[in-house]
Amino acid sequence: MAEQLVLAIDQGTSATKCLLVDAAGAVVREASAPVPIRYPRPGWVEQDAGEILDSVLAAAAQCLDGVPRGAVRAVGFSTQRESAVVWDRHTGLPAGPVLGWQDQRAVGICEDLRAKGNAAAVRAISGLPLDPMFSAAKLRWLLDPSSGPDGGGGRGDGGRGDAWIAAASGRGDLPGRGRLAVGTVDSWLLFALTGSHQIEVGNASRTQLLDVRAGRWSDELLDLFGIPSSVLPEITPSSGELGTIGQRGGALAGLPVTAVLGDSHAALYAHGAGDGDVKATYGTGSSVMRLGEVDGDAVCLTVAWNDKLAAEGNIRSSGATVAWLAAFLGTTPEQIAKMALSAASDGVHLVPAFGGLAAPWWDDTAVGLISGLTLGTRPEQLARAAVESIAHQVTDVLDAMGGAERILADGGAAENDHLMQIQADLAGMPVHRARTANLSALGAAYLAGGIERPLDYHEFAPRPSDPAVRHAWREALDRARTPSA
Ligand code: G3P
Repeated sequence: MAEQLVLAIDQGTSATKCLLVDAAGAVVREASAPVPIRYPRPGWVEQDAGEILDSVLAAAAQCLDGVPRGAVRAVGFSTQRESAVVWDRHTGLPAGPVLGWQDQRAVGICEDLRAKGNAAAVRAISGLPLDPMFSAAKLRWLLDPSSGPDGGGGRGDGGRGDAWIAAASGRGDLPGRGRLAVGTVDSWLLFALTGSHQIEVGNASRTQLLDVRAGRWSDELLDLFGIPSSVLPEITPSSGELGTIGQRGGALAGLPVTAVLGDSHAALYAHGAGDGDVKATYGTGSSVMRLGEVDGDAVCLTVAWNDKLAAEGNIRSSGATVAWLAAFLGTTPEQIAKMALSAASDGVHLVPAFGGLAAPWWDDTAVGLISGLTLGTRPEQLARAAVESIAHQVTDVLDAMGGAERILADGGAAENDHLMQIQADLAGMPVHRARTANLSALGAAYLAGGIERPLDYHEFAPRPSDPAVRHAWREALDRARTPSA
């Protein structure tokens, strides 16, 4: 085995994946470990910080098993973003559940801030729309569950929730203010593994507490969300000497951490995207990202890595739409993909606003909708509409970003050739799909090891597309966004 290996650790929502990458960027070994996720109440999404750490240690141990000590020169992390973690800095133990990025319990905190007229200021400083997906409102809730307008983050339950109480009581008393530390998943892992309370700047930009252009915590945002600066981590760059892993790291002990990135940012880095390129990750939802700033409020402004800014549009439901339709029709997502091949949508549109719509519409009132049904509509047409909805939504974000020259695609749902061709046709531009999977982990490895980005692509060239198809989608969207009309 080559002696200058880099270990990439991609800590995602459902699993931690590890890749061992050689100096030429080739993956020489991989391993993964699942992470449990819990839904204790409608809209609540929780993980356990200890289980997240365990999954990292397990996947790393598996990946490094039998690899000679000294063969690995650096570790790079890519992590799920926005999820909020609170722990006791003295014991190093979690002081509550991780509130996952999909968790909506802090919606009341955001509504309260909006009602007080703070939305524009939050957007201007943080680059993000006021939304419970970002960490700030979740941290407010974790620090003081009665902070919502009716307590319990606006749900009237008056408490942090059963899992929080259980986690706290199982591990001794809740720590006092002076001992509490908060952060995101990268921050928790860096603390647990290196002992230092840090957050990578790109992950910090997704907390909604960062002054995104200045790259430092914003006093105004800390005041608005009621977060004391004493509980926050120090902001660090995405690459450099970020710490050495201690004994708690097991197989990782003694290795230097030289890169940390948000997972979406890591995929953008792996693509080596230039001007004119837009990256689209097709997963449960989609992340559409390009380097630089974009005018208007349709997409977020975020730190890609170090001092580079990026625009990002998040789409809540992509692969999830196909999974939903599969469950609804009593079949599998693979079968839906096959059914979609055999039909045109013939005016049937599915707007997957299951929890409202994110970019570029940011409309929490939008409702999920299927339009254009006739007595002759067949399941195949619904399947086609579900697949098309993914490409339409990405095209909507591209339009809001002012277009692009090509789309660089990755993610599980991008393995569907049919979807990639529909995407190229609807967007009217080539789609280049990476031939290698796990771009987030690869991006972390490339940055951690200073490795050239050797990606190879399959191209889907655009074919002429009837403008009426986009027009009909926009009509369906309008209906989904005016449910009372
Ligand atoms: O913004 C949330 C995102 O970072 C989570 O990514 O891959 O864990 O679903 P993933």
